[in-house]
Amino acid sequence: MEGVWEDFISLNSHKDHDFDVLGPAADYRATDAHTDWSAETFHVDFDAAVQRDTGPLPLTEDREGYYGPHHFSYWASGLRDVRNLRAACDRLGVTLNDYLDLGCSSGRVIRHMAYQHPEVRTYGCDINAAHVVWVTKYLPESLIIFQNHSIPSLPLADNSLDLVTAFSVFTHIEAFETTWLMELRRVLRPGGIAWITVHTENTWNDMRPGWPIHDAMAAHPDFAKLPDGAPLPDGKSVFRWHGARSYSSNVFYTYAYIRKHWGRYFEIAETHKQLPDFQDVLILRKR
Ligand SMILES: C[S@@+](CC[C@H](N)C(=O)[O-])C[C@H]1O[C@@H](n2cnc3c(N)ncnc32)[C@H](O)[C@@H]1O
Repeated sequence: MEGVWEDFISLNSHKDHDFDVLGPAADYRATDAHTDWSAETFHVDFDAAVQRDTGPLPLTEDREGYYGPHHFSYWASGLRDVRNLRAACDRLGVTLNDYLDLGCSSGRVIRHMAYQHPEVRTYGCDINAAHVVWVTKYLPESLIIFQNHSIPSLPLADNSLDLVTAFSVFTHIEAFETTWLMELRRVLRPGGIAWITVHTENTWNDMRPGWPIHDAMAAHPDFAKLPDGAPLPDGKSVFRWHGARSYSSNVFYTYAYIRKHWGRYFEIAETHKQLPDFQDVLILRKR
């Protein structure tokens, strides 16, 4: 394989990173009809939040394609997720002081901690250096951002975090998943929680055109070989595109596997089907 060794375990580590950026969320509110972000439905005061967040938005290509041309929806989705996280902390009795978003991309979620909840010490990391540079350049300096790599290890102290999130990250981790779980357990305080989104039998059974994962799966030769309506195979299923690169797979887990394997590292405090849309959420608590 061509390339530098760093890119076997990370992405874009040696590229120059130049970006164009969009305006702040306020610029796109009136024209984005993708979702009706009403305060009543989402229990979020979007108007007040827009006023506080003056940072630029990333171009669609600099945010993993999230929400295509619907820039306000991209921004609002992160705020909705922060609302959900804070509600989970309240429910589970977690006082949120220290928070890490693993696989934070260009800050879809953590920007809202910085602008709306600056009292929370917020860390973000990603294997893609381009995302790390983007956040460093354009979002508040209160965010502590670093590049990690796909060998599980985080430069954070034991028992130092109340909350770790991984939105659509374990859906792509093809190897060392249990080591990652051990690593997340190490950095969480006892009682702290991990919010991890996963593809499960719910995703598999309900996947349909229009879902972000649908076209990628339909084009995968191993998936195409399966008879129509075949159930999700037992255990962990990896649909991989490149052998010699991280982050090039779609990964599914059955709940039986999650309970049997992940339940060894964490108490499975809550599971939510397709929250908010496509992937299930596991809320794992360090005992
Ligand atoms: C589908 S995107 C989700 C981005 C972000 N969490 C969000 O919800 O907007 C997956 C992200 O995880 C990152 N990633 C993949 N494997 C990773 C790993 N082992 N450690 C950290 N980040 C990873 C990718 O670079 C990408 O930014």
